[in-house]
Amino acid sequence: MKQEKIYLKDYIAPAFAVESVNLDFILNEDFCRVIAKSKFKTLKAGVPLHLNGEELKLVSVKINDKALTAADYQLTDEEMIIANVPSEFTLEIETQLEPQNNTSLEGLYKSNGIFCTQCEAQGFRKITWFMDRPDVMTSYTVTIEADKAKYPVLLSNGDRIKVEDIGNGRHKAYWRDPHKKPCYLFALVAGDLGVIRDTFTTSGGRKVNLEVYAAHGKQERCWHAMESLQKSMKWDEEVFGREYDLNEYMIVAIDDFNAGAMENKGLNIFNSRLVLADSNSATDADFHAIESVVAHEYFHNWTGNRVTLRDWFQLSLKEGLTVFRDQEFSADMTDRGVQRIEDVDSLRAGQFAEDAGPNAHPVRPESCMAVDNFFTMTIYEKGSELIRMMQTIVGRKGFRKGMDEYFRRHDGQAVTTEDFAAAISEPNGKDFTQFKRWYNQSGTPVVAIQERFDDKAGEYHLTLEQSCPPTPNQPKKDPFHIPLMMGLLDKSGKELNLNCEKIEKNSDGQNVIELKAQKETYVFKGLKERPVLSILREFSAPVNLNWEASEEDLYFLMEKDTDSFNRREMAQKLALRVMSDLIKQHGQGKELKVDQRFLKAMTTVMSDQNMDAAFKAKMLQLPSLAILAQMEPVLQPVAFDKARQTIRKEIARGNKEALLATYHKYHNVEPKSRDTKIFGQRLLKNQALHYLAELNDPAIFDIVNKQYWEAQNMTDRMTALMILADSESTHREKVLADFHDNWKNDSVVINKWFTVQALAHRPHILDEIKALTKNPTFNINNPNNVYSLLRAFTTNIVSFNNEKSYEFIADKIIEIDPKNPQVAARLCSAFNFVGKLEPQLKELAMKQIKRMVDVPGLSKNSRELLQSALQ
Ligand code: TRP
Ligand code: ZN
Repeated sequence: MKQEKIYLKDYIAPAFAVESVNLDFILNEDFCRVIAKSKFKTLKAGVPLHLNGEELKLVSVKINDKALTAADYQLTDEEMIIANVPSEFTLEIETQLEPQNNTSLEGLYKSNGIFCTQCEAQGFRKITWFMDRPDVMTSYTVTIEADKAKYPVLLSNGDRIKVEDIGNGRHKAYWRDPHKKPCYLFALVAGDLGVIRDTFTTSGGRKVNLEVYAAHGKQERCWHAMESLQKSMKWDEEVFGREYDLNEYMIVAIDDFNAGAMENKGLNIFNSRLVLADSNSATDADFHAIESVVAHEYFHNWTGNRVTLRDWFQLSLKEGLTVFRDQEFSADMTDRGVQRIEDVDSLRAGQFAEDAGPNAHPVRPESCMAVDNFFTMTIYEKGSELIRMMQTIVGRKGFRKGMDEYFRRHDGQAVTTEDFAAAISEPNGKDFTQFKRWYNQSGTPVVAIQERFDDKAGEYHLTLEQSCPPTPNQPKKDPFHIPLMMGLLDKSGKELNLNCEKIEKNSDGQNVIELKAQKETYVFKGLKERPVLSILREFSAPVNLNWEASEEDLYFLMEKDTDSFNRREMAQKLALRVMSDLIKQHGQGKELKVDQRFLKAMTTVMSDQNMDAAFKAKMLQLPSLAILAQMEPVLQPVAFDKARQTIRKEIARGNKEALLATYHKYHNVEPKSRDTKIFGQRLLKNQALHYLAELNDPAIFDIVNKQYWEAQNMTDRMTALMILADSESTHREKVLADFHDNWKNDSVVINKWFTVQALAHRPHILDEIKALTKNPTFNINNPNNVYSLLRAFTTNIVSFNNEKSYEFIADKIIEIDPKNPQVAARLCSAFNFVGKLEPQLKELAMKQIKRMVDVPGLSKNSRELLQSALQ
């Protein structure tokens, strides 16, 4: 009987150490042979050797060169168990694989004729029987043998030793990784690939060969990834003192990949959409994403690879920390304030929703069915917020000191989030006992704010009270340790000196309230007049505020706060109030009337000549429906859409001239430039065009259409396509057809065409989506196609929420699940918000969830995520 669930509390240290492993790969078209020779050392006598292995064909197994017979070991679906082993021994196992038939895209598989691997989290067990757990770290030597004409490029981790011809048109490569690693970081690539090369010299003088591999003909699109890698290497030296530790760094772009990218030691494998870019084929957002993911995978070399995980429950140890590092990198490469706004938007839209849904889990979970389901926004993005809070508490200098200590203590080890917290807190003399609850308690805390000004005493009283809504298995929570960055402003918007005993400045000179009690009052003395509160600056903690601030104060902060994050936050808060009001009006059957004061404030922003363009774009952007959905008790797709649309239309009507002026001012200014400032201007002018399109004016659609046909970069082309695809304009069909004709053979770019259509708010889009799945360019076995069409459709709140769409997506999950459980499981997030649906819709969604759960043999990945919705 397979064990349904695994628990953190059941962790036992390994009974064996693997001192080294040699892997020989013999690659063929029909089947491949893998010979794994490992040196074992017994750590705990009398314990049988348990090796993980799945879907493998066993050829032979030997101990110290002596073949074992079937009586010497036991094989199950998931394990090989050898009861009697000497205290030190060499184990040799030969397996047979069929990578060409491996549709799960984990283990060894083939993508467009290229052999490649994906071992995280537990794919190595599909290559050979092994102790497939991150706390078993060992040294690898690898040989790869293959046909030379078909597979001229043979890659693995570490140093290239040699390549030799072995006759019969075949050749063999030898690789050796000098660093010990867990098997989830093993990688192999064999294929006919193009490459670009450059170098990086580390601060210590090591010259590193950098290579980016991609399909032939795509090399020119690899340069941005190369530059991003070089910037990352430099940044990690400057900011964290971390140097690269091998002579080679390779990135390989693959079309069929379950996730974004993988940090295999010295040999990163990437989803090609996160490598390939030039201004004709990639948008500004794509360039930005590539830079950040290349950095993320590079940063893993220290946070993940050199210091790795004790067990998979600790996943956030490397992912939260590495996301934090890549966010900081992006902030330094672009604009810190704008970057923070974007990171918080995505945290709120994705992670807060996850924390409020049936699959809420702590940053360090305690149990699971499928380890692959751990790769969530909570582990990644909320995990990053936990690191950020630590930095806010100890200050940047203190944080760097803690990071140095972390590497000093744990280099070469497999450790836990506890170890990390200790390394940061101890050198800074801080107590993180209470802080660590953030790792164990799920849910988004709420901080309620009460303010009182005592005229006579000149005292401002701020009362903060924290709570946290119940989440699965956690009805009650203990108080969190919440760092709240704050300030008080006088009437002119000047920052006041804070006179409060309970507040200390951190080492960066920021005023931080460390809320630890459930309820606490802070008294600020020596004030002549009522100050205006600015709190949760820079979004210093992942919480929701329950703050009935006066409109007066919100508009004041939107205009005057010294914290740019909060200026924009207040604009969002006000917009949400206006939207909420419109939803009420809609419910009462009234004609929708948008608050004039809000419209006026937007006009003021619009006409501000001193505001940075990217920041202005963020100020003018209304909260997404996903964010609105979290604020509202019930999901009302039609009312939500109507409310947002109505405000947009009013903004466009009231500012038509200014929007047109902005558009013309920035249109075609350095259309090929990738400078941050130009990115921002382009963002703003395309946003202006989006607003103008709300007017449904044929003259505006002509401008949009012109932009499509004359675009000199993909950002402008996509903006125009997006606008027209979501309109009834006469230009619509033509531009969609043109885009398809131009890009139908480009697996990366054609996904944009799918997404644009999947996100349209037009009626009857389900029929269009169904037709698109029949398009010859759509391949349900390709994860990018599934994500860009089907998954995008499930996030389309307006079009997805109906019986037929639920049924359609359930059918697709059932179809994909047996082939690729990881991709199917990611689609299951479609049903994460069932708790928010009105009764009728909820029943329809539940019917589909039940139907899926009842499918015999449904993967544990999908089952785990769907079952929770039924409870
Ligand atoms: N470790 C990868 C990262 O975050 C994530 C990853 C790559 C992954 N491939 C995967 C997660 C496959 C799950 C399954 O950088
Ligand atoms: Zn990662």
